[in-house]
Amino acid sequence: MSSYPAEEPRSDAVQAHGTESANTPRKPVTVPEIAAHKDSANPLVMVTAYDASSARAAEAGGAEIILVGDSLGMVVLGYDSTLEVTVDDMVRHTAAVTRSCSVPLVVADMPYMSYHTGVSDAVRNAGRLVVEGKAKAVKVEGGRKRVPVIEAMLDAEIPVMGHIGLTPQSVNALGGYKVQGKALDAAQELVDDAKALASAGVFALVLECVPAPLARLVTEAIDVPTIGIGAGPFCDGQVLVYHDLLGLFEGHRPKFVRRFADLGSAAAEGIRAYASAVRSREFPSDTESYTLPEDVAGALEARFKG
Ligand code: KIV
Repeated sequence: MSSYPAEEPRSDAVQAHGTESANTPRKPVTVPEIAAHKDSANPLVMVTAYDASSARAAEAGGAEIILVGDSLGMVVLGYDSTLEVTVDDMVRHTAAVTRSCSVPLVVADMPYMSYHTGVSDAVRNAGRLVVEGKAKAVKVEGGRKRVPVIEAMLDAEIPVMGHIGLTPQSVNALGGYKVQGKALDAAQELVDDAKALASAGVFALVLECVPAPLARLVTEAIDVPTIGIGAGPFCDGQVLVYHDLLGLFEGHRPKFVRRFADLGSAAAEGIRAYASAVRSREFPSDTESYTLPEDVAGALEARFKG
């Protein structure tokens, strides 16, 4: 059983979000509502965001969950992997997101080495994301071996989202960004990990780069929602990285990324138009400039030009 009972009909906040009229007051989405949303026919929408403008866009677009992912390192900070991201980075960007939206549930990623050095470090770092960043929950990567850390966070009243399959913080151990669970034993391990995390009390579980039939088995095997990225259509929700789905990231594009917009090209086109208007002195125009009162203008002219 989920350890996050919903207090009232959750479908009000979760299922209606994104489809309600502009006048409907939108209640903040809560952890118990997400935990109870075990419904692959009516999938949850999660998207990453890292700052004020991406948070506002995610909220306006109707996402139920915003993940302040440590993908921050690659799509915003320009690193080659997520490994360099620090707790301070995550706190700063989580705070920017939580200041800028009120409806989606904001979940903050625990970065590499923030929960690998012991349970008390993990709880202290998770606490910073909740107290300073104002996240409502944190996410940790890894299977059964994370159970002690997850239990300690739950003891500290910090809700936890799990993440198994391709866990990017394990890129060196895995030997690259590869689909996980393709062999029988590996698939069994993944199901066992999912069950262990669900019993430990995660309120939702990200499945990354997992074959669709295996993601379906995992989804059927646990009573908290699965949220897929490269895990096929049978999960209880889907997540994509903001920059990937909007065409703002030019790095490697895995096959599961669909571009729903091409904002990168639109941005470059806008900058080209701006540059050309500046160089031709067509920008700024009179209407884009401030004027002086006539008497001040005349006096200044007389003073400086004699
Ligand atoms: O950091 C991130 O953006 C993530 C998602 C891809 C699930 O962990």
